[in-house]
Amino acid sequence: MDSKKIAADKAISFIENNMTVGLGTGTTAYWDIEGIGQKVKEGLKIKAIATSKRSEDQARSLGIHIISFAEIAQIDLTIDGADEADKNLNLIKGGGGALLREKIVASNSRQLIIIADESKLVKKLGKFPLPVEVAIFGWEKTLEKLSALGCTPKLRIDKSAAYITDNGNYIIDCSFNEIQDAAGLHDAINSITGVMDNGLFINLATKLIIGNEAGETKIFYK
Ligand code: 5RP
Repeated sequence: MDSKKIAADKAISFIENNMTVGLGTGTTAYWDIEGIGQKVKEGLKIKAIATSKRSEDQARSLGIHIISFAEIAQIDLTIDGADEADKNLNLIKGGGGALLREKIVASNSRQLIIIADESKLVKKLGKFPLPVEVAIFGWEKTLEKLSALGCTPKLRIDKSAAYITDNGNYIIDCSFNEIQDAAGLHDAINSITGVMDNGLFINLATKLIIGNEAGETKIFYK
């Protein structure tokens, strides 16, 4: 069984009629959107906000009603993936390049459920290079300032050109190996002019659902 789909199916069981739902991005969130599409065909009534153009396209193709922030006070529940998660539900996200929209959606959600396979659960964050979304203008100087925080920064490349986010920015992937003070690092990175946001999600997730190949799920709560 696909562990990512197992986790996604469990998360979908927390969606109720008339909720506004945040849709994540990535290969795990893909299963969440597929599953929600199926429930909508069966009669579930929800409105959704997507964290990327590709998730929005997928949702629309399944008949999920997409709305904008102007139409709501708050998102009831967001379901999204992660690149790393610890047992305190702190995360590294942005491997799929959608971290800024993901954080805007997450920080405007009553509940954030993170879905993942077992490989994403780590003792300490940092093995996965931390994605940082930066303005294109002056990115070379922003990279130097990120480097001064003790990482090896690398401009993300896609098919031999710089990767451009849905917001028209670059991503710099920062290898720290092990992050000791995730909250402090989050704030230090975001205080650099030119940084839009970084992939550390601290105190945002309310549930972490880990799926495995045997079809089981384990849930960690905040
Ligand atoms: C996209 C993300 C994804 O949630 C993260 O990269 C995990 O992706 P996947 O489910 O494909 O492993 O943060 O920006």
